[in-house]
Amino acid sequence: MSTTPNIVLNVNGIEVIYNHVILVLKGVSLNVPEGKIAAVLGGNGAGKTTTLRAISNLLKAERGEVTKGSIELRGDRIENLTPADLVNRGVVQVMEGRHCFAHLTIEENLLTGSYTRTDKGEIAANLEKVYNYFPRLKTRRTSQAAYTSGGEQQMCAIGRALMTNPSVMLLDEPSMGLAPQIVEEVFEIVKDLNTKEKVTFLLAEQNTNMALRYADYGYIMESGRIVMDGAAADLRNNEDVKEFYLGMGGGERKSFKDVKSYKRRKRWLA
Ligand SMILES: Nc1ncnc2c1ncn2[C@@H]1O[C@H](COP(=O)(O)OP(=O)(O)OP(=O)(O)O)[C@@H](O)[C@H]1O
Ligand SMILES: [Mg+2]
Repeated sequence: MSTTPNIVLNVNGIEVIYNHVILVLKGVSLNVPEGKIAAVLGGNGAGKTTTLRAISNLLKAERGEVTKGSIELRGDRIENLTPADLVNRGVVQVMEGRHCFAHLTIEENLLTGSYTRTDKGEIAANLEKVYNYFPRLKTRRTSQAAYTSGGEQQMCAIGRALMTNPSVMLLDEPSMGLAPQIVEEVFEIVKDLNTKEKVTFLLAEQNTNMALRYADYGYIMESGRIVMDGAAADLRNNEDVKEFYLGMGGGERKSFKDVKSYKRRKRWLA
């Protein structure tokens, strides 16, 4: 019997074009194994959000489309499913920038996550589950989201996604704008949801350091391409990753493209 985990999400050579002309993803392939945390890493504009939006079929609102390649969920093609179909199949996205409804309370926000279901008992049980993972949200349940902290809003966004009973969560930039301690708190909860609720995660992060501490596998993206991938532990120990993404090099070079020309230059000089 094989011990290789099943692949939940398979993204195969996708290209994404915005506004019919701007080619942003130039053949991106990645796999997310069942029960694991995978991370797409890279700087501003690398294409992380576009990748997540392609999977959850949220590109249309941005005038984007997948023009090549395929996306499979447990072996089924999903490019033509709506975001609501995907939620019914257990795939939910937490968008970059949190997007809580500012004028609703935390609890009302959470309840919007259960709109596809009608069973009141089930919804109440789900709410309890969310409060169990996010005790901070319970104490803030009657507060208007607009008056809660950035960390609480991120928790609220993840909690709302959890209300859909997902098996796969796409989490875009959970660390954005949060203090390191809060980022850690959020990632601890992600890890908890992964181990206890068996939620599979694909997260997009600029915070390579934090993401590689919690993820099992990482894909590093630059200018719409995956330039490197590997087990998180291997990436953490990779000299180029350390230098360019973990801020341990102290140099001014910022990308693998620069590494290549730098190494070429070094060879010439040698
Ligand atoms: N709606 C859009 N129309 C045109 N171009 C877009 C659109 N959305 C994103 N882009 C471009 O696509 C590229 C990838 O953007 P994307 O948001 O996927 O990057 P990202 O890795 O998520 O960056 P960040 O870390 O800043 O969130 C960028 O060059 C961006 O300018
Ligand atoms: Mg982004």
